[in-house]
Amino acid sequence: MSEAEAPAAVPSDPSVAPRPIAPRHVAIIMDGNGRWAASRGLPRAEGHRRGVEALRRTVRAAGELGIGFITIFSFSSENWSRPVSEIRDLMGLLKRFIRHDLADLHKSNVRVRIIGDREGLDRDIKSLLDEAEELTIGNDGLTLVVAFNYGARQEIARAAKHLAAEVAAGRLTLDAVTPEAISARLDAPDLPDPDLVIRTSGEQRLSNFLLWQSAYSELVFLPIFWPDFDRAALEEAIAEYRRRERRFGGLIARTGS
Ligand code: FPP
Repeated sequence: MSEAEAPAAVPSDPSVAPRPIAPRHVAIIMDGNGRWAASRGLPRAEGHRRGVEALRRTVRAAGELGIGFITIFSFSSENWSRPVSEIRDLMGLLKRFIRHDLADLHKSNVRVRIIGDREGLDRDIKSLLDEAEELTIGNDGLTLVVAFNYGARQEIARAAKHLAAEVAAGRLTLDAVTPEAISARLDAPDLPDPDLVIRTSGEQRLSNFLLWQSAYSELVFLPIFWPDFDRAALEEAIAEYRRRERRFGGLIARTGS
């Protein structure tokens, strides 16, 4: 049969249906580790440990789906108020994740970036974060952005402080204080804004995550706990994103892509 005669492919079997086109940048609030554990009578630490497994699945799926950037909220500026033992567990998981997974991420051409405040972090954590960025700096596959000791208001305040210092030093005029000038002083100014922000666990808020960058992001809230997140859940969120109309404040709709 020539190409002209070939019938248009109308997939009836969902397993062969075309995959949704991936958004360029997906940001994820990985919520519900504690509730996942509690609902099984397990310690919270086990929920976090299973959360790291979900993260590994997600990074793999993101690469397969052609997502360019994935930002994960791994430890917030506010998480320091948790019990010391839980903070120790979370720090231990981050260290183990970098020590064990960095070589694989590097082999998979993943570039690791870190956002958040690195001042005042333990030296071993800081040097692991630096090492992850330095080792993978030349990779041009998926970019995995780890938001660690991160709070969006703190990030915006840091940018404002830089700008204020430049104005005070006479290097910038007041008129140069624009949204673009603030964007340029955020923690990773070269990254595109997230197209899609996913939060698991059923909570419907941003909790101080990427407040500036998510001005026009589509928000998708999934009713599952983070340790249960997998490729199917990611595809479900992307399918929902694709159904949204993005107008960026204008009148002309652009469907998610
Ligand atoms: C929210 O669950 C999750 C976190 C506070 C941290 C997410 C951390 C991980 C997935 C593991 C560590 C990360 C890396 C990069 C190794 P929660 O404890 O708030 O759950 P709850 O709301 O049900 O109590």
